[in-house]
Amino acid sequence: MFEVCVPATSANLSCGFDVLGLTLDLFYIVQVEEREGFDITISHVGEGESEIPQGEKNIFVQAVRTVWKEAKFSGTGMKAKSRSTIPVKRGLGSSAACVVAGVTAGNILAGNPFKDDVLMRLATLLEGHPDNVMPAFVGGFVATFLDREKIYFKKYDFFSDLEMIVCIPPYQLSTGKMRKMLPQCYSRRDVVFNLSRIAHLVGSVAMCDREGFFAALEDRVHEPYRGKWIKGYFEVKEFLDTQGLGKVIISGSGPTLILFLRLPWNSSVEKEIRKIFYAAGVDEIQLKKVSWVNTGVKVVVS
Ligand code: HSE
Repeated sequence: MFEVCVPATSANLSCGFDVLGLTLDLFYIVQVEEREGFDITISHVGEGESEIPQGEKNIFVQAVRTVWKEAKFSGTGMKAKSRSTIPVKRGLGSSAACVVAGVTAGNILAGNPFKDDVLMRLATLLEGHPDNVMPAFVGGFVATFLDREKIYFKKYDFFSDLEMIVCIPPYQLSTGKMRKMLPQCYSRRDVVFNLSRIAHLVGSVAMCDREGFFAALEDRVHEPYRGKWIKGYFEVKEFLDTQGLGKVIISGSGPTLILFLRLPWNSSVEKEIRKIFYAAGVDEIQLKKVSWVNTGVKVVVS
């Protein structure tokens, strides 16, 4: 029996659309027991309990099978029990976590035929978003891309003491739908705007330049378009900007927002943020302090 634990991920980091991601301390954990025969059962508790499908439609199971197919492994029986603190369809990489757990478990059950680079490629092809999948694999702040089926990545430590608050609304948004909201073409001015910010952002993280990081957290590729679908986004952005408190980003394709703050989170800022969401029509916003984690997928054998 073994357990696979995978962290949540926040993809894009504002200007880094489809290429940057950061791991957060929310987790998908699956306990796997090999069984005789070929039957696979999976049960799930925690976030997504009423929505995550059982059996072959389960993304974890599909990822296990993807590895087995690639390895030409005929398969085995398996009893899997999963639990999660990663909200589903909120832009926190819940499906990437399931896929990374699945390819990892599938590889172990098949006798470890593949090294990490193959698993990373298979997971990225299956899930579709390297900016979620790669941080989930390796942890930390990650810049990545897939080119002709080869995955490239650079991992950096993130700021040790940056205040991060996730704002998780009760409604969900589909990534597919949120991708359709984006333009097909961008002006050269907007492209250069994002290129300059992303270069500065990665450099600032690498050099621990916190103000450089704050300056670079601006985007013209996805946030202006997706922001319209995320209640309170523009108002929170204006509040943080005008008060000089920090920056807000859309986590993945939303609707979760992440606040990066210059000052420690306190009750008066919390009150203002709650007021903004309430006025925008979100009665129940979950505000949670999170930390980044430096490790990605972990396996514990028992
Ligand atoms: N980069 C992807 C997007 C991440 O924003 O559509 C999806 O989680």
